[in-house]
Amino acid sequence: MPRAARAGINLRALHPNLQRAKAAAPRSQQFSVIKANGYGHGLVPVAQALKESNGFGVASVEEALELKAAGITQPILLLEGFFHADELEQIQQYDLQIVVHHEQQLAALETLSAKNISHQKPITVWLKIDTGMHRLGFETDVAPEMVQRLMACDVVNKPLRLMTHLASADDMRNKATQQQIESFKTISFDENTEKNIERSVANSAGILGWMGSYSDISRPGILLYGVSPFLNEAGSDRGLLPVMTLRSELIAIKQCKQGDAVGYGGEWVCPENMLVGVVGIGYGDGYPRHAKAGTPVLVDGKRVPLVGRVSMDMICVDLRECPEAQVGSDVILWGEGLPAEEVAESASTIAYDLFCGVTSRVPREYVSDSSQGESIEGESSGGNYNGGNHSG
Ligand SMILES: Cc1ncc(COP(=O)(O)O)c(C=O)c1O
Repeated sequence: MPRAARAGINLRALHPNLQRAKAAAPRSQQFSVIKANGYGHGLVPVAQALKESNGFGVASVEEALELKAAGITQPILLLEGFFHADELEQIQQYDLQIVVHHEQQLAALETLSAKNISHQKPITVWLKIDTGMHRLGFETDVAPEMVQRLMACDVVNKPLRLMTHLASADDMRNKATQQQIESFKTISFDENTEKNIERSVANSAGILGWMGSYSDISRPGILLYGVSPFLNEAGSDRGLLPVMTLRSELIAIKQCKQGDAVGYGGEWVCPENMLVGVVGIGYGDGYPRHAKAGTPVLVDGKRVPLVGRVSMDMICVDLRECPEAQVGSDVILWGEGLPAEEVAESASTIAYDLFCGVTSRVPREYVSDSSQGESIEGESSGGNYNGGNHSG
């Protein structure tokens, strides 16, 4: 028998989650963000399940080519653009769209245009403006000049896209978001140029919470995976459905005595004689090493608290409230019935990190419409998923 740790991926939840984004911002196109292996859920199966997306956002040419090889036909955007000019050939060949956030990238496009090669494939460019995140992008005051330079490049497609990224939209009380939105709106062009520009602002938090961020194109990410982008909230509060459920089983139950110290370092001590369950999952699978004692775990559907330190392959749980549990009992670490947001908070992290952190030794079990609700072991499914790599 293999280890019981596995991640169920309910592909059927992705479409309704995308519909939530569409309903919130009906006039926007939706470019679904599926970088980092579909936030750990599997790049290709996620893209296939999100077939109503107007496009996809990824982090590298490699991810884009994996999608192309799987037959994905929607536009694919490289969210950080290219890292070196020699990627431009593949970008043209495979018709990839690029973010341009830096002078070097712009200069490389100008050089390519100046080569005057006939029948050059045009590239769709998203010019990234820094409205306050201070990470990637050009300052707002140079935006018109950068737009002019790009418009003058033969190799750049029209319309041009203008984008910015919100830094703190997860906190509805944070005034910086409105300032970012306003600052983006102040970038203006003459009528003719404006006609050739499409704008993009909203991430998940923008879509669900900041109407001012609605524009031609939205870029939903975490909401697609069923997680609320807002602090102190679960996806279900927004009508979102969880996609990943991380499960395992109890592999041992110990009768411990009052005063027994549990796990490495012996930090957690039994307050009375009690049953301690050992679950076959640990930080080697991506369960967060810093999850605190008390982090909720579902054993046979009942909430019990984590006790002791998280080890590489195991965690321990307090079974006092679940005396009927047995070796082999089903354990859910997050997902259906236990919001990833809650576990993330107890581990001082975010659900994005939990999902991306699930390691490659944890098989993904895909459930899709065409697999009629049956879980399919391993990294492929008999549904509409034709394979792909999972680097975890
Ligand atoms: C440029 C850009 N847009 C959109 C997103 C999606 O963000 P979220 O997952 O918070 O919706 C990301 C994710 O990091 C991003 O980098």
